[in-house]
Amino acid sequence: MKVLLLGSGGREHALAWKLAQSPRLTKLYAAPGNPGIAEHAECVALDPANPHAVLAFARDMEVGLVVIGPEAPLVAGVGDLLRDNGVLVFGPDATAAQLEGSKGFTKDLCTRESIPTAAYARVTDIAAARAALTGFGLPVVIKADGLAAGKGVVIAMTADEADAAIVDMFDGSFGDAGTEVVIEEFLTGEEASFFAITDGTAVVPFGSAQDHKRVGEGDTGPNTGGMGAYSPARVLTPELEARAMAEIVEPTVRAMAAAGMPYSGVLYAGLMLTADGPKLIEYNARFGDPECQVLMMRLEDDLLDLLLKVAEGRLGESTPPRLADTVALTVVMAANGYPGTPEKGGAISGIAGAEAHGAKVFHAGTALAGDTLVASGGRVLNVTATGASVADAKTAAYRAVDAIAFPSGFCRRDIGWREVERESNGTA
Ligand code: AMP
Ligand code: GLY
Repeated sequence: MKVLLLGSGGREHALAWKLAQSPRLTKLYAAPGNPGIAEHAECVALDPANPHAVLAFARDMEVGLVVIGPEAPLVAGVGDLLRDNGVLVFGPDATAAQLEGSKGFTKDLCTRESIPTAAYARVTDIAAARAALTGFGLPVVIKADGLAAGKGVVIAMTADEADAAIVDMFDGSFGDAGTEVVIEEFLTGEEASFFAITDGTAVVPFGSAQDHKRVGEGDTGPNTGGMGAYSPARVLTPELEARAMAEIVEPTVRAMAAAGMPYSGVLYAGLMLTADGPKLIEYNARFGDPECQVLMMRLEDDLLDLLLKVAEGRLGESTPPRLADTVALTVVMAANGYPGTPEKGGAISGIAGAEAHGAKVFHAGTALAGDTLVASGGRVLNVTATGASVADAKTAAYRAVDAIAFPSGFCRRDIGWREVERESNGTA
């Protein structure tokens, strides 16, 4: 079967690497892809967020399945147009992708279905926001409603900070994402990412991970797309995972189907593990990046088979995906300046050496300048390794990191630290 993969980051490299292991794959196309993905796919110059261009390509090349990596094509309606035209696609329709695209939509769904989440208010102007704020304690969380590339969330410690955040969001700094604002109760606990795949009816767990969103060691400094991750996140125990499925994910899938917008694809639940159990922080309508990279390292099943079952609505016929017992850990090597203005064009070498001992280096933001591999984005490489424990996987990943020469880049040295601490003091 021919497959078209949309996207160009480390998540898509991991998906391409795993898809390429399927005996059913005859040809993989990637749009636009990157130099790492090019090892497994023919990269094509096609705008992945242009539904008509994607449909035309899929038809011309007789593509049997389109796999959508990032959120932009989902929100642009690529899934809808493909499905309407009988092309199998992994990824939800635009209306279903509102679970990621609109925080207000998701919060209202949680209220209707009694899904545990932070108390909240939706507001559309400054006066209403100020009035609503009086109902919340401190700290308080203020979010632009729409997609703001992870930057539309402020945790205000004081009333002045809360007011400043509100003024900021309504003054247009987030574009359309800031025309509505959600004010939320601040939740305390440890965060975990939980994944499930669903064909709109059947839904099965697809593993857990924990990522590090802050740029600095000890989880300090500005938010990023993620500086590293490991899987599984044992803090999400089997009991808590069962609760997350029963109390959060399953009611969501049922409610979406009942509302006439069945959700098909991967549902990524950002959870806060509070003293009262797991609560939903947010949904994403795609695999996490870099969480996908660690999940793919652990997946024992044929990825193409699984994604096809989802796309065909046959997930109920199969057994749940099997993930290896080993731990996978990935370290993001980023370009200096990230998450502000990353320095582009820095040379990278040493990847073959890094992979010599079983690590896998996924390309996230790379390009070729002649024969030289260079940085072309903020997050550049995802250096990924496995081990019997988080500590072992971490040692193997950093050994590989140290084999790479990327003078204009940096990485955190403490990925997985919470779990490494628990392992070393016997509380893991
Ligand atoms: P989001 O974009 O909704 O995932 O929020 C980004 C980050 O802000 C989350 O990963 C959390 O660390 C934090 N956050 C969001 N909402 C809350 C909340 N209600 N309570 C505490 N932290 C939150
Ligand atoms: N790593 C966080 C995300 O993919 O949203």
